[in-house]
Amino acid sequence: MFEQMSQSEAKEAVLQLVEEYWSQFHQAKDTEEPERIPYSGRVYDSAEMKNLVDSALDFWLTAGEYTEQFESGLAEYIGVSFCSVVNSGSSANLLAFMALTSPLLKARRVLPGDEIITVAACFPTTLAPVIQYGAIPVFIDITIPEYNINISQLEQALTNKTKAVMIAHTLGNPFDLGAVKDFCDKNNLWLIEDNCDALGSEYYLDKIWRKTGSVGDIGTSSFYPPHHITMGEGGAVYTKNPLLHKIIRSLRDWGRDCICNSGQDNRCGHRFSKQYGKLPMGYDHKYVYSHFGYNLKATDMQAAIGVAQLEKLPKFVLRRRDNFDYLKERLQAYEDFLMLPEPCPNSLPSWFGFLVTCKNGVSRNTLIAHLEDRGIQTRMLFAGNILRHPCFEGLEDGVDYRVATPLVNTDRTLYDTFWVGVYPGMTNKQLDKMADEIILAIKKQGMAI
Ligand SMILES: Cc1ncc(COP(=O)(O)O)c(C=O)c1O
Repeated sequence: MFEQMSQSEAKEAVLQLVEEYWSQFHQAKDTEEPERIPYSGRVYDSAEMKNLVDSALDFWLTAGEYTEQFESGLAEYIGVSFCSVVNSGSSANLLAFMALTSPLLKARRVLPGDEIITVAACFPTTLAPVIQYGAIPVFIDITIPEYNINISQLEQALTNKTKAVMIAHTLGNPFDLGAVKDFCDKNNLWLIEDNCDALGSEYYLDKIWRKTGSVGDIGTSSFYPPHHITMGEGGAVYTKNPLLHKIIRSLRDWGRDCICNSGQDNRCGHRFSKQYGKLPMGYDHKYVYSHFGYNLKATDMQAAIGVAQLEKLPKFVLRRRDNFDYLKERLQAYEDFLMLPEPCPNSLPSWFGFLVTCKNGVSRNTLIAHLEDRGIQTRMLFAGNILRHPCFEGLEDGVDYRVATPLVNTDRTLYDTFWVGVYPGMTNKQLDKMADEIILAIKKQGMAI
C-alpha cells in the first residue's frame, strides 16, 4: 500500500485508517449507554488515538517532542513557568517531596526527622514519600463536608521542626489556599499542592483567580485514566521556582546535573569544560550527578495522548461542574439524611467526584450495597484514615508520626462517607439514575422523607 508514497503520505494514510477505526469501533461503543455507571473513565476521540499512533510511528519512544509540547501546554494552563512530565501522580508526589530534601536548598532543606503537616484522610502516595524518607508526618483533622484540612488546627501542629505542608485538594475541592499559604509564608514552610484530583480547579487569591497547583511551591498531577485528563499512566510536577525545577529535573532524570533532554547533547554549552565535585576538569557533564535520583520519565506516546486531552480539558472541567451541580440539586431535598459536598469559600472546584456523608441513621454500607447492586460504581474517600491501615502497623505515634489533634471527622469518613462520579462521559440519564437510586436507597432504610 505504501510503495508509491512518501513517508509523510504513508503516515497520513495510516492516521486516516486510525480515524476510521476509532469511528467504527470506539465511537459507537461510547454512545451506547453502559449498564454500569462508572465513577469515572476515559473520554477521548480519534485525536488521542491518532496522536498515539503518530508517536508510535516516529518510534522515538522516550520523552520527546510531544512531551515538550505537553509540558509547555500544561504549564501555561496552570499558570506556572516549569512543568515536568513523569510516569504517574505517585511519582510526581515522590519527586515533589524529594525535591525539598535537596542539599541545594541549604537551610530550608527537609531532613529526616523534620515534620510535615498533612491529613490522614488521604491518598496513600501523598504521604508515602514523607515516611519513606524518614520525615515525620503530623496529622490534623479535616472538615466535613469539604473533606479538606481543618485550617483552625494548623497552629497546633506547628513546632520548630515543621518544614512543609503537603496535602491534596480533595476530590477537586480546593483546600483553603489563602489560609494555608499565609500560614506557610508566616512560618517559612514549603507548600506542596497534590493537585492530582483537582486539575482545573480555581481559587481566588489576591484578587486573581488562580489554578490550584500554582499557589504552593510545587504542584502535582496524575493522568491515570479516571483523572481529569489521561495518558494511561502519567503525571506531572510543576513550579514557578527555577531552583526547584532544576532539582525536580535532576531527580527525575537519574540525579544528573545536566539539563539536556533525552537524546540531546551539550545543551548547556559546557559539556566538557567545567569541573564538578571532586571530578577531574572537563568530565562529561552528561554523567555528573548532583542528586541520588530516579528515572521517572514517561514515554512520548503517553505525552502524545496528553496533548490531545489537554485541548479538551476546559470542556471537561465545565461538564464536571455541571454534573456535580445537577446531582446536588437532585439530592438537596434529602439533606436530613445526606451531608452534601460544599466547595471551599473563594473557590471554583473542578470536581473529581460527588462526596456524600450519611447522617441521621442512614447506613452508608447499606446505601452503597444498593447502588453497587444496580451497577452504580461507588468509591471510598481513598484511605479514609490512613493511620488505621495495615501499612501503619509497627509505626509508633510520637516517633514515626504524630497526631496533633483528634481525627474525629477523618474517622467519620471510614463509616459514613462515599462518592459517586461526575466525569464528563456521564449522560443525563445516568445522573438521573444515580440520584433516583440514592433516594430509593434512603427510603428503603425506612427513613421518613
Ligand atoms: C490525591 C491523589 N494523589 C496521588 C494519586 C496518585 O496518582 P497515580 O495513580 O497516577 O499514581 C492519586 C490517584 O488517584 C490521588 O487521588
